[in-house]
Amino acid sequence: MKVAISSDHGGNNLRHEIKQLLTELTIEFEDFGPESGQSVDYPDYAAPVTKGVASGEFDKGILICGTGIGMSIAANKVNGIRCALVHDVFSAKATRGHNDSNVLAMGERVIGPGLAREIVQTWLETPFEGGRHERRIEKLMELENN
Ligand code: RB5
Repeated sequence: MKVAISSDHGGNNLRHEIKQLLTELTIEFEDFGPESGQSVDYPDYAAPVTKGVASGEFDKGILICGTGIGMSIAANKVNGIRCALVHDVFSAKATRGHNDSNVLAMGERVIGPGLAREIVQTWLETPFEGGRHERRIEKLMELENN
């Protein structure tokens, strides 16, 4: 599995924490920054991660800002992306199983690093359930063409 990750300044600390987790889990990843802690615009950092996932270069993406909201809105504007804003383990599992989400957004100002680690690990390890959810995903993606 290959993961793309980025944040804005509001998500810098948590991004470093999650990179550490990915290293511990021996999951290959590419970090799209930002390199410094200076104020940046989250759509600029959502773009390379979501385009990389949509193109198939990466299997999954992780986006972090202060709330996770800006990043999730930006991500869901890119065709092919199903980004879930998640701040609990139950939703992390459900959104993989039911929505086949391919990008995870979280807010550093909303949850602590311990919970974020559990969310990421659960989200990465939970497979899509398929079945009746497949039809719903197809309908979701059809909305992109309208
Ligand atoms: C930055 O101050 C903050 O607005 C951003 O990190 C994010 O929370 C936006 O949704």
